[in-house]
Amino acid sequence: MRSGSLKDGEPVLLIDRKDRRYLIVLRAGTVSDLRGGKLPHDDLIGTLEGRPVGTTRGETFLMVRATLAEFVLAMPRGAQIIYPKDLSAILLAADIYPGATVLEAGTGSGALTMTLLRAVGPEGRVFSYEVREDFSRLAAQNIGRYLGSSDQLVTRAHDIYESIPDGGLDRIILDVPEPWRVVHHAVTALRQGGVLASYVPTVPQAVRMVESLRQSGAFAMVETFETLVRPWNIEGASVRPAHRMVAHTAFITTARRVEQRTAGGEQGTASAGLKGPDHRDQQDADEP
Ligand SMILES: C[S@@+](CC[C@H](N)C(=O)[O-])C[C@H]1O[C@@H](n2cnc3c(N)ncnc32)[C@H](O)[C@@H]1O
Repeated sequence: MRSGSLKDGEPVLLIDRKDRRYLIVLRAGTVSDLRGGKLPHDDLIGTLEGRPVGTTRGETFLMVRATLAEFVLAMPRGAQIIYPKDLSAILLAADIYPGATVLEAGTGSGALTMTLLRAVGPEGRVFSYEVREDFSRLAAQNIGRYLGSSDQLVTRAHDIYESIPDGGLDRIILDVPEPWRVVHHAVTALRQGGVLASYVPTVPQAVRMVESLRQSGAFAMVETFETLVRPWNIEGASVRPAHRMVAHTAFITTARRVEQRTAGGEQGTASAGLKGPDHRDQQDADEP
């Protein structure tokens, strides 16, 4: 899959001379209209990616399979997606591993869902909750277009603020406006040692989430970070940062589910003595 000759149903990118990108899904018998020229998909199916293809108008496009990041940026959106820079960070910060059972909410446009499905692999499972039916439908289309049907995905029309009906979860990833309302449910649904991650765009939301996790007594190692990715322009003598970048998206908070702290007891949180990465960095800097 995703190698060898192109197959019916695969998403490909067509890139013109000015680096404009057009996403199409190959369908036998279909003809795409590209900038006034026709491009029959039957001429592309069964051939190799990474080569120029021409329309009936004589324009040439570079044809490559769309990577997940490229597909996510080009796919139709209902809800705002998590950008690739944050999707990749979430995978390691929340330690998503092959075979993991992961819950995410809300499904939105399905960008995180696809990323999780690929990371957990055929032995894993992804539960995805969403309250809006229209978003669920669009996400299902996006996921189907990129990954095809997936036995690993379980979608639920469910309000995660109300409850988490699934249990024994290894990881929980929250992209909802008020993730602190989920902390109480996560205490029972997430296995001990499991990782919870939340994704919120504003500082007050991040602060409230961190405080809720600490107050729950069932989470430790609470850490918050953001990712800044600055592309560079490297062309001849023009070697400089790009004029534009995605400056702000959201704050990612991660925490580990630990044995519930008894009243007055202490857990291994940063506030209880274990130092977070910022402390470590300072310590390293101070060392001779
Ligand atoms: C920003 S979008 C998620 C985008 C998604 N992570 C992606 O990468 O495409 C937030 C979604 O959460 C859903 N939502 C909001 N509150 C919810 C709740 N209490 N339970 C489940 N879904 C919720 C919204 O309808 C919306 O689709």
